[in-house]
Amino acid sequence: MSNSRRLLLLTALAFVAPLGFATETAVDNYKTYCVQCHGLQGNGNGINIRDMSVQPRDHTDAKAMSGRSDDQLFKVIKEGGPSIDKSVLMPRWGGVLSDDEIRDMVRYLRTLCKCQFGS
Ligand code: HEC
Repeated sequence: MSNSRRLLLLTALAFVAPLGFATETAVDNYKTYCVQCHGLQGNGNGINIRDMSVQPRDHTDAKAMSGRSDDQLFKVIKEGGPSIDKSVLMPRWGGVLSDDEIRDMVRYLRTLCKCQFGS
């Protein structure tokens, strides 16, 4: 490969890498731990909501989700609702999911909302 080609490839990778890709594990974890409140489609419509005083976030809501940084999403998943001044009805998952799995989950949430922070 020529040097200029290599440079082109590296530049392309530099743009793609930060977006990242969620793995199947994130999809599975979401189905196991999140859908009962956040819904099978992630739209906040899970089977628990009838009995909940605070409704779960609609993760497909691009406007609301783009108002949160990846760090905030990581924090609320790991430490629970109160860590970002949200309801205790959003449980903490730090004991269940590893940090890597939570980062993976944040990437998955970005695919549900089709949004990035600030966009
Ligand atoms: C027992 C029900 C329940 C489960 C299970 C649950 N959540 Fe939540 N979640 C909530 C509620 C309720 C809120 C909204 C809290 C509020 O608005 O004060 C919330 C909010 C959130 C938010 C914050 C969004 C925002 O910007 O306000 C994220 C992110 C989130 N949940 C991710 C997850 C993930 C990922 C899982 C699975 C690992 C999960 N939740 C499982 C109830 C739940």
